[in-house]
Amino acid sequence: MLANSHDLMDRDSLIHQQTNLADHRENGGTIMARGEGIWVYDETGKKYLEAMAGLWCASLGFSEKRLAEVAYKQMLELPYYHTFFGKGNVQAVELAAKLLSIAPVPMSKVLFQCSGSEANDTAIKLVWYYHNAIGKPEKKKIIGRIRGYHGNTIAAVSVSGQPHMHTDFDAPLSLFKHTDHPHYYRFHLEGETEEAFATRMAENLEKLILAEGPETVGAFFAEPVQGGGGALPPPATYFEKIQAVLKKYDILFLADEVICGFGRTGEMWGSTTYGLKPDMLSCAKALSASYQPISALMISEKIDQALVAQSAKLGTFGHGYTYGGHPVACAVALETLKIYEERDIVGHVKRVSKPFLDGLMALKDHPLVGDVRGIGLVAGVELMADKVSRTPFAPEQKIAVRVMDACAEHGLIVRAIMDRIAFTPPLIITEAEVEELLVRFKKALDQVWDGLKV
Ligand SMILES: Cc1ncc(COP(=O)(O)O)c(C=O)c1O
Repeated sequence: MLANSHDLMDRDSLIHQQTNLADHRENGGTIMARGEGIWVYDETGKKYLEAMAGLWCASLGFSEKRLAEVAYKQMLELPYYHTFFGKGNVQAVELAAKLLSIAPVPMSKVLFQCSGSEANDTAIKLVWYYHNAIGKPEKKKIIGRIRGYHGNTIAAVSVSGQPHMHTDFDAPLSLFKHTDHPHYYRFHLEGETEEAFATRMAENLEKLILAEGPETVGAFFAEPVQGGGGALPPPATYFEKIQAVLKKYDILFLADEVICGFGRTGEMWGSTTYGLKPDMLSCAKALSASYQPISALMISEKIDQALVAQSAKLGTFGHGYTYGGHPVACAVALETLKIYEERDIVGHVKRVSKPFLDGLMALKDHPLVGDVRGIGLVAGVELMADKVSRTPFAPEQKIAVRVMDACAEHGLIVRAIMDRIAFTPPLIITEAEVEELLVRFKKALDQVWDGLKV
């Protein structure tokens, strides 16, 4: 007999994250029971093509036995050891070296955490620590982007620009500022090219920096391709122009590769795809194919040097997490990276990207679709009420949620973000499975369109 009488399958025991809790209480949700390749099965046995790889993360799908075996072996050998007080474990040391060897730009050191949020939170702390160390203690403000997403710890959510994650959580904290959402299709002016739009974005960033005072701005955070902002690749020349502004005012740049890292954009890093030269880089998700919770923050040499100097002065580098560099998570990540290399996952993404993007682009003719934008195996489909005037659907029509729900009916998991439908299938998706994804998506679009006509 249990100490209290909670039914173990009581559907109200769990708070579901990023969920309308009242609605969920009324209507319930979907509980997954098992996975096979890029497919998942719910507890009723219904099968879904997981076109979001869970939360943009299960890069090797849901049944990679090698990762389970490595985790088991590591648990038998050394199930836990920390990285505090000069100690460590072999797997953490090896993984750090491996990450530095494949970094998109020269990086000096790696810090481990358990989530993307914590990696970005650590980066924020290091922006502050670094500027204290180099004698610029006033350079503490951090600029993110409207609709940017960097996580949910209090600092990571503050640099994020997601209004629904700020409201009533008393976020963002006051040192965090936000510049434009570089969503060309939605926000370009009549006749404005992508390049001109990117110039305007960079000019607005510069205006914000000048308004705040360049001597008070410490860092800028951006994802190469925005995830939570709508699976949205940047406009042409955007990062080139943004980075020039950051350089001009001596502002650190963090590339958030939590979604883009490890092949998603058709290169190992989104930074390579878009020519980013970050001072820090955060990654997670596909680092372990999400079979274990782990994230990494890579830092450049100048930041590393400041950490060393400051810890010598203060007596220690006063930062760390119990599970940062967990040997089981690191072993799984090392095996994941080995699998990527053995199977040439980047080459595979490049190959399947074409049918994936071509197939989605072909849907631009669909009456519900205004725009399609993607790269590698990440894409967003923008739904639009009037394509000519670029007038969106009224929010109460919940058009993207309707399409997402129709997709689920057809056994396809996608994500609705504002008026966009996001796709980030597991990186192992085959051409035949891409075809299946497109067929199911088209059926869902047609179903919603037919529903609107009656
Ligand atoms: C770009 C980006 N950064 C950070 C995070 C936060 O990662 P986590 O949920 O592991 O804390 C996410 C999560 O989706 C993300 O998309």
